[in-house]
Amino acid sequence: MFSLIILIVLSILSYLFTDELIPKLKELFIKAGIFGIDLCKNSKDKVPEAVGVVSGCVFLVTSFLFIPIVFGHSLMDREHFPHNEFAEMLAALLSICCMLLLGFADDVLDLRWRYKLILPTVASLPLLVVYYVNFNSTTFVVPIPLRQFFGLSVNIGFLYYVYMGMLAVFCTNAINILAGVNGLEVGQSVVIAMSIIVFNLIELQGDQYKAHSFSLHIMIPYLATTMALLKHNWYPSKVFVGDTFCYVSGMTFAVVVPQLFHIIPCPRHRLPKYSGETDLLQASRTLIDKKDLNAISKLIINVFSFFHLIDKVEDEVSITINNLTLINLFLIKLGPMSELRLTVSLLMFQTVCTCVAFLIRYPMASYFYDT
Ligand code: UD1
Ligand code: MG
Repeated sequence: MFSLIILIVLSILSYLFTDELIPKLKELFIKAGIFGIDLCKNSKDKVPEAVGVVSGCVFLVTSFLFIPIVFGHSLMDREHFPHNEFAEMLAALLSICCMLLLGFADDVLDLRWRYKLILPTVASLPLLVVYYVNFNSTTFVVPIPLRQFFGLSVNIGFLYYVYMGMLAVFCTNAINILAGVNGLEVGQSVVIAMSIIVFNLIELQGDQYKAHSFSLHIMIPYLATTMALLKHNWYPSKVFVGDTFCYVSGMTFAVVVPQLFHIIPCPRHRLPKYSGETDLLQASRTLIDKKDLNAISKLIINVFSFFHLIDKVEDEVSITINNLTLINLFLIKLGPMSELRLTVSLLMFQTVCTCVAFLIRYPMASYFYDT
C-alpha cells in the first residue's frame, strides 16, 4: 500500500517532467532530421517525430527509481531477498528498454515491414527466459464447453513460448497500424492502460494479487508519462510519437489486415484522405487493375463487399476500393468528418470494446470457467 502511494506521487512528478521536457526538445528532433509532415493538414510544417522516446525514457527512469522503494525492505534482509520477483521486474524493464531502442531505430532508419515483425520477437526474449526459469507453467485451463474433448487442462509446452513471442509482435504492431490521425496511437494506449489498471485494482483482492500488483507498478508510471505525451500529440499535433512509442506500448487489439501480405495492393500510407477545402477527412482509396486480381483477392473483395465492409466502385478494367483499415471503415460508414471527430469516435469505440471485454471477463466468465 505504502509503495503504491509513493508510486502515484512519483508518477505525477513524471507527468509534469515529461510535459515540460517535450516542448523543450522539439527543436532538437527537427535539427536532427527526425520529423514528419502532417498529411491531414494544409500547413506543411515540420512536426518532430519519435517523441515517444522522451516519454518512454522518463517512464523507464521512473521505474528504475522505484526499484529501491519496492524492494527496499528486502534489501536489508539479504537472505530472504525475493530474487524471482526482482528478476521478473528487471526482465520486464529490459524488454521495454529493447523496444524503445528498436523502435527508435525504426523511426530513424524507416525499417521494412519484415523487421517490424522480427524486432518485438527479439525484445520479448528476456521476459520469456525469466518466465521459463521462474514459472515454466505452460498449462492452460480448458473452457467448460470444451472439457469433454480436452479434459480440465492442457499442457501446450514449447508452444506457449511461441504464443507469448507472437503476442509481443501482435501488441506492438496493432498499435502502430491503428494510427495516422492526430492522437490515435497515444489515445488508444491511454484507454488500454486505464482498462488494465481498473482490472488490476479489482483483482488486487484475489489470490493472483502479486501479479496484479506487479502490473500496477509498471502501468501507473506508464499511464502518467503517456498522458503527458497525449497532451502534445492531441489534435492539432505539435509532436508525433513515432514507432518508438507504438513499440513501447506493447498491448492492444488490432484490425485484421490482408493488405499487409499484399494480397490486395497496400500503399505506403493508408491514412485517410485530407481535403484542404473542407478540412474534412474521407476514406483513402486504392485502384486495382482487374488483370492483377487473382482468385484469393477476388474472394476477399467479394466477402468484404457482401458484409458491406468496403466501398467498391467498379468499371470494365479496374476496381477502386477503400484501403482496408478500421479508420477508413469508420469514414465510409459515418461519412467524411473532421480529424478531431474521427479520433474521438475511434477512441469511444475502443472504450466500448474494453467494456465488452470486462463483460466477458466478469459476468460471462462463469459459463466457461469455474469462477
Ligand atoms: C503505419 C501504417 C500506415 C499509416 C501510418 C501512419 C500500416 C501497414 N501502416 O505505418 O498505413 O499511414 O502508420 O502513422 O497500416 N502522420 C500524420 N498524422 C498523424 C500521425 C502520423 O500525418 O497524426 C504521418 C506523418 O507524416 C508521419 C507519418 O505518418 O511522419 C508516420 O508514419 P510511420 O509511423 O513511420 O508509419 P508506419 O508505422 O510505418
Ligand atoms: Mg508508426
